Amino acid sequence: MENQAPRLGTVSRLHRLLRSNWITSIGAALMTLAVLSAVTLLLMESLGGVWSGPYSGLLLTLVLPLVFLLGLVLVPAGLVLYRKQLNARLAAMTDRPVYLARAVVVLTAVNFAAVGTVGYTGVEFLSSTEFCGKACHVMDAERVAYERSPHQRVACVLCHVEPGAKGFIAAKLNGTKQLLHTFLDDYERPIPTPVHNLASSRVTCEQCHWPEKYLGTKLKVKPHFRTDEQVSAYTNVLLMRTGGTRPDGKSVGIHWHVHPEAVVEYVATDAARTQIPWLRVVKPDGTADTYALPGVPLDPPPAGELRRMDCSDCHNRSAHAFELPSDALDVAFSNALLPRDLPSFKRHALEALEGDWTRESAADGIRQQLQAAYAKTSGIDEARRQKLEAASAVVADIWLRNVWPERKLDWGTYPDLASHVGCFRCHDGKHADANGRTVFGPGRLPDGVPIRDGSCDKCHVVLSENEEDPAVLEAFGLKR
Ligand code: HEC
Ligand code: HEC
Ligand code: HEC
Ligand code: HEC
Ligand code: HEC
Repeated sequence: MENQAPRLGTVSRLHRLLRSNWITSIGAALMTLAVLSAVTLLLMESLGGVWSGPYSGLLLTLVLPLVFLLGLVLVPAGLVLYRKQLNARLAAMTDRPVYLARAVVVLTAVNFAAVGTVGYTGVEFLSSTEFCGKACHVMDAERVAYERSPHQRVACVLCHVEPGAKGFIAAKLNGTKQLLHTFLDDYERPIPTPVHNLASSRVTCEQCHWPEKYLGTKLKVKPHFRTDEQVSAYTNVLLMRTGGTRPDGKSVGIHWHVHPEAVVEYVATDAARTQIPWLRVVKPDGTADTYALPGVPLDPPPAGELRRMDCSDCHNRSAHAFELPSDALDVAFSNALLPRDLPSFKRHALEALEGDWTRESAADGIRQQLQAAYAKTSGIDEARRQKLEAASAVVADIWLRNVWPERKLDWGTYPDLASHVGCFRCHDGKHADANGRTVFGPGRLPDGVPIRDGSCDKCHVVLSENEEDPAVLEAFGLKR
């Protein structure tokens, strides 16, 4: 009669252990809850519908693992805090040796494996376009633009986060800060660009693009339409000297700036990097050619951020480009999404796009404004009404993908720098070195119109400008 305790199975012993004090019990309950919820969510997710999406992903990979981890900490914490009672209980079931240590080691290993797996899927989820683009509605503007971009299949993190653990942690810390601002609803509107802590394009873009690659000269055909009654067409044709590194090793053309040996550095005196009064080209031997605007000393450089130029100084909109109203309409006309046989349609559409809509009122408002414009001028019959209906939807879509009032993101908020606005920050023909040699660029007439000097041809040969039917297109067999 030395031992009255019944013989207990392993499960019952574990059960007793977990119920030996309230802290351990809560811990065990939390772990069970987390596992059961995860299983339920996974089942629901597999059914699809409202339950699959960024929020269930957030629960599954972040919230539940945290609950589970909390439980995991509480269980041993309770056992340690209440070890006296525990010893008494253990003493009551010593008919067989208690392999406590063994059990703890095995369970911990299982738990680590589980946490590790969930943690890994968690990291994957936190790096997914689903999470970055959809979990947070502030990102709707970029996601919608991204889905139309050549990078539609490139995950946000590949351009936004430096590869490796350091980049991941930095991005998540920054993301947490942004999340807080989103909850407090005090994030900056518009989100200021350039993004100053963006990972260098050397570790992002260059995972896929090869900066030295010789791209040579590319034909660029740009159809445009006027605001006259006939919506008359004209086409600009350019030969872009994209360049790169030629087989002979010489780097030429527009991509000269990103050749590993062409180190172009500049100082911008405003946060938006639109004002560049000083720049230099550091050569492989360490010497530099320095250029500055008249009145700005070459040495020392003006106060401001000193930056080495990379891809994003020109291609700032490669994944989420926002259009200007006229450009967006031109593309739609040229793709035959908009009719040219409605008189002055471009003019009316431009007026509708400039309207002061909300995201809820835009589609209806634009349709009504266009209907009213034609009712007032050339009249509407049934055929025209139908045509207007379809065209209004296209115009409304242009508005909706470019204007996001709640983010103060309006026409022109984020200009594309791979264009005259971006290039002429340096190529204005005014930045001169100590000998008066200037960075090439067109001078300006007093009214601001660029002068057609030889500099235009260094970036592109203008084969045709403002011509209705450019002969050059006919020569190429590209006549519309
Ligand atoms: C091909 C590379 C690339 C991809 C893919 C990409 N981005 Fe960007 N993103 C950039 C660059 C470059 C900038 C910096 C723009 C600037 O500094 O002017 C930027 C800027 C932003 C900004 C700041 C506001 C703005 O519009 O400039 C947000 C927000 C953003 N990205 C969100 C996203 C989201 C969300 C995704 C995925 C759906 C994504 N990005 C995918 C390259 C990319
Ligand atoms: C994961 C790979 C990947 C990354 C990272 C990436 N790109 Fe791309 N990029 C592509 C692919 C693929 C295409 C070609 C898409 C096509 O032709 O449809 C492309 C196309 C482009 C184009 C041509 C666009 C056009 O309109 O034809 C530019 C410019 C460009 N990328 C710049 C960048 C810049 C700048 C970055 C970094 C901010 C970057 N890319 C990051 C894969 C990538
Ligand atoms: C000085 C500004 C500038 C820099 C810096 C720059 N690019 Fe470009 N890139 C351009 C311009 C301008 C074009 C021609 C655009 C066009 O055809 O509309 C171009 C064209 C391209 C194209 C399309 C090529 C084709 O014809 O199919 C790709 C891809 C590209 N760039 C990627 C990059 C990458 C990656 C980097 C960084 C390593 C980079 N660019 C740096 C200005 C720049
Ligand atoms: C931060 C200043 C800066 C910006 C922005 C810039 N460039 Fe440049 N670029 C330079 C400098 C400096 C040189 C070398 C000038 C020289 O030698 O006269 C240069 C040289 C060039 C060259 C001649 C390369 C060769 O063959 O030697 C071309 C072409 C060019 N740039 C095109 C562009 C285009 C197109 C853009 C806009 C998309 C642009 N640049 C934006 C600074 C800039
Ligand atoms: C520093 C380089 C550079 C210089 C100098 C330059 N351009 Fe451009 N130009 C560009 C780039 C980049 C684009 C954008 C191409 C694109 O749309 O992809 C462009 C586009 C154009 C277009 C097409 C516009 C459109 O949307 O149809 C015309 C026309 C043009 N340039 C004329 C000129 C003329 C004329 C000069 C000289 C007075 C000149 N450019 C000087 C870089 C330059």
